[in-house]
Amino acid sequence: MEDKFERQIDYLRVSVTDRCNLRCFYCMPEEGIELKTHEEILSYEELYNIIKSATELGFKKIRLTGGEPLVRKGIVNFIEKLHQLEIDDLALTTNGILLSKYAADLKAAGLDRVNISLDTLQSDKFREITCSENYSLSDVMKGIKEAQRVGLTPIKLNVVLIRGVNDNEIEDFARLTIDSELIVRFIEVMPLGNNYDWVKEKHISITKVKEELNQFDSLIPAEEGVGNGPAKYYRFSKAAGKIGFISPISDHYCPSCNRIRLTADGFLKSCLMADKELNIKKAIRSESQADGLKKVLKQSILAKPKQGLGDEISADFESNKRLMSQIGG
Ligand code: GTP
Ligand code: 5AD
Ligand code: SF4
Repeated sequence: MEDKFERQIDYLRVSVTDRCNLRCFYCMPEEGIELKTHEEILSYEELYNIIKSATELGFKKIRLTGGEPLVRKGIVNFIEKLHQLEIDDLALTTNGILLSKYAADLKAAGLDRVNISLDTLQSDKFREITCSENYSLSDVMKGIKEAQRVGLTPIKLNVVLIRGVNDNEIEDFARLTIDSELIVRFIEVMPLGNNYDWVKEKHISITKVKEELNQFDSLIPAEEGVGNGPAKYYRFSKAAGKIGFISPISDHYCPSCNRIRLTADGFLKSCLMADKELNIKKAIRSESQADGLKKVLKQSILAKPKQGLGDEISADFESNKRLMSQIGG
């Protein structure tokens, strides 16, 4: 489970669907994306068998992502099944829209916690960012409350910062951590697909965000065990919650990377930024033997580049350009 650069890889992010009930403008192109067919997507049984092999290899942390994982039918039963495996931390990243409906069932099924993506606290802006007419900010707020009520904790809010869109809400988000045990995390927007120029223009450095927040109140480092990801944590002196920073651009965290990703259509991604992927669907559909799956999982770990794109890629790897919604963050 160690990669070539002595990093321990024990975190598997599993995208269960490429579908989403929102259309966040920085994540999905306006014209939409071509969705995978039912046959292309791994069945729950296939997903389960891959995750089981991963846990047997030593993966201890599993996170379900999407698109939006809660739009896939049968997700609660799937989590119930995963709960029987040896997993230390079973988590899910959601946009929160369906959380008020599912939180209690998810908790009962054995889910440990949720991270919720929310980029604004203003109703009009929510509609603009998510390009959604069917859902509103209040759906997400209800979802957060329900997740807190049933104990899917610690709850993290993921805020992707975009210049001119939500950089005037940094303090409003941070203030949420004063009275509640929420963890609010500010994320630097990342280039994926071909939006490099746009990202350069809209990017806000975490260094600037920290400066702004320190003027509001002093940020005190608060690292104690709050997750498996690359975030660095702080809190205000009298706050119940915490503030996290994820800075893939200004302070990239490749040296401590601990994860690989499984896409909904059955490819293993060794690195979020690399488009070279291994086809594990081929292994599961042709052999469906645990040994075959483990071989591909190990191959993916060993192919992890030191940072960004790697160079030692064999003919087994295929090149796939994906958007964030097709990877799951
Ligand atoms: P915790 O265990 O709660 O810390 O979860 P997490 O931060 O690993 O999961 P989450 O789905 O909430 O991810 C938050 C964001 O962190 C993602 O959407 C990405 O923006 C960023 N991120 C996570 N993993 C990587 C990675 O391997 N590389 C880069 N560049 N960014 C990542
Ligand atoms: N950069 C950073 N984070 C992103 N997300 C989606 N697109 C981007 C991007 N370009 C985030 C979502 C969610 C997580 C799974 O990925 O907001 O929190
Ligand atoms: Fe928005 Fe997440 Fe859906 Fe992308 S996958 S459109 S970021 S809710």
